[in-house]
Amino acid sequence: PVEDGYRLWLKYDLIGDVAKRQAYARSAQFIASSGTDPILKTATRELQLGLQGLLGKAIPVLTSAGNRTGGIVLTVTTGTDSQSLAPEGYRISANNRTITISGKTSAGVLYGAFALLRQLQTQQPLEAISLTSSPKVQFRMLNHWDNVDGSVERGYAGMSLWKWYELPERVDPRYRDYARANASLGINGTVVNNVNASARFMTAEYLQKVAALADVFRPYGIKVYLSVYFAAPKTLGGLKTSDPLDPQVRKWWADKVKEIYQTIPDFGGLLVKANSEGEPGPQDYGRTHADGANMLAEAMKPYDGVIIWRAFVYKAADTSDRPTADRFKAAHEEFTPLDGQFDKKVIVQVKNGPIDFQPREPFSPLFGNMPKTPLGIEFQITQEYLGFATHMVYEAPLFKECLEADTYVNGKGSTVASIVDGSLHRYSKTLMAGVANAGSARNWTGHPMAQANWYAFGRLAWDHTLSSEAIAREWIAMTLTQDRQATSRIANLMMKSRDIYVDYNTPIGLSRPWSGVHFAPEPWQNRSSRPDWTAVYYHRADSLGLGFDRTASGSNALAQYRPDVRRQWEDPKTCPLPYLLWFHHVPWTQKLSSGKTLWTELCTRFYTGADSVRWMQQEWALVKPAVDPAIHADVSARLATQHKEAIWWRDAWVLYLQTFAKEPIPAPFKKPD
Ligand code: GCU
Repeated sequence: PVEDGYRLWLKYDLIGDVAKRQAYARSAQFIASSGTDPILKTATRELQLGLQGLLGKAIPVLTSAGNRTGGIVLTVTTGTDSQSLAPEGYRISANNRTITISGKTSAGVLYGAFALLRQLQTQQPLEAISLTSSPKVQFRMLNHWDNVDGSVERGYAGMSLWKWYELPERVDPRYRDYARANASLGINGTVVNNVNASARFMTAEYLQKVAALADVFRPYGIKVYLSVYFAAPKTLGGLKTSDPLDPQVRKWWADKVKEIYQTIPDFGGLLVKANSEGEPGPQDYGRTHADGANMLAEAMKPYDGVIIWRAFVYKAADTSDRPTADRFKAAHEEFTPLDGQFDKKVIVQVKNGPIDFQPREPFSPLFGNMPKTPLGIEFQITQEYLGFATHMVYEAPLFKECLEADTYVNGKGSTVASIVDGSLHRYSKTLMAGVANAGSARNWTGHPMAQANWYAFGRLAWDHTLSSEAIAREWIAMTLTQDRQATSRIANLMMKSRDIYVDYNTPIGLSRPWSGVHFAPEPWQNRSSRPDWTAVYYHRADSLGLGFDRTASGSNALAQYRPDVRRQWEDPKTCPLPYLLWFHHVPWTQKLSSGKTLWTELCTRFYTGADSVRWMQQEWALVKPAVDPAIHADVSARLATQHKEAIWWRDAWVLYLQTFAKEPIPAPFKKPD
């Protein structure tokens, strides 16, 4: 059959090396697992399925190993062995020719089973295996921006995975494959609908549909969550108001949450986008984000669920003519005064950067500045600003850059990761969310290489200390090839891909969250219903120079960071080039730390960036013998499109900026493509 990418990283093809296969088979003569726990059953079945594929033979499942050795024992235990584990952690150990996968909960055993399979898939030895792992973050979630009509906001991989019109009666087998893929990474929650939420998801009709999905996900340790429309009491409930302090509104939500739990007993919780980009919220009634979140928390009180309140807020007023107005500052300004006011059930979900999932952004200044409020992080896996489904951009380095950034809130070493994983402020709840890139495309993600972004997000949500390269190599081995040279080549390509994209798309700290489809290069766009939905608002090109002054002479957004962070960025002479135009309006002829003028540096980046896509094409061509022909051809074709589009970006920016810089394009770049 033609390889179509459907199986993701769970391919379990027969291990070609006979000696290795036999060695594995000696350690996997049987699986011992007992009990009726549905998640433990899943672990057993997944292990059996994987081993059968990898080893080419059926592995018997016994209820107990008895005195047999040479098999794999699955066990849920609270014994000394598992004491140091988090509830979902696992231990894999080998003793007396028996491999034991243990966890405090059946979910831990499930993650251990997938970890063991990963060892075989990446051809690691099993004899003396000893692995102990606990997730660093408690809520590891995907956020689907999927609508009632089957469309996906910012989705580039077909339509929604969820066929609402078929549910709850017909349950597409694909839902289970989706759950398998997530469970294999340790993802334990999924928000199935768009943050720009339709109130229809709160109707009895839709709750039944969502319940059918929850039934499929439950045995994989995954809970469902819903995004809510804050004005639902009015639009759905027929009340006169949705004011969070109104007793009738509070009752409406309490009843609604009760109904949800009657339909889905292990429902995960609610995600809320309020008073953001036109969505309704508590501020419509003069109330605060905390008032809104706490009202929902009160409704949630009898249950286990959480309220996830997004901090992605900004207003047209933030971007007025005042010299200090700056969308960059909005979330910090609105949320930090509320620290300590949120109910214990609330987690505030913060995008990695202060603006909006740009190809490169400084970390959000909210991180570190709300010690009393659990802050979760929201990354975007779907490539809204990263070239949709035609550009190869491996995102792990972007995620890691943010997680490893030092906020200095408690001195050196106060990384964003240490805030998100709760270690710095002792948060009672921790969360990492990724806006999903999976859709109805046969290969799930459109671009075959975008599967790696889903994979990397999941792996980092479990353990943010893993390296981007290690994750890439693991994914390549499980998905594309086991050829060593080809693996190195592909890993190198992936590792460089994001910087290449930034070079031809938004170099030296440019950003582009302007309105529209977020794809077309149109830096000249200067008309919109709001100033902050134009391109010129962000890049600020003029006859003098380029970039947004966020120092004390400008919006002073830098003041939202600790002095040690500020110092790194506030002097244009020492500010690292990747962030330069985020914080400074730099004259065209200014010499940068690279020794080049701003104009020459920009041209160098745009041109070498676009040229580097050629290099990517050449490198990809070299791995052809080692990769499945259909996948290879698919990626080759997309790289050709990427090259064409990289040139669009380069030319649009360079020619537009040239009208201000009034400088010639440096000689080495004036060659035909
Ligand atoms: C971006 C994106 C929107 C989305 C919003 C959000 O602005 O373009 O489609 O709704 O982020 O995260 O709420």
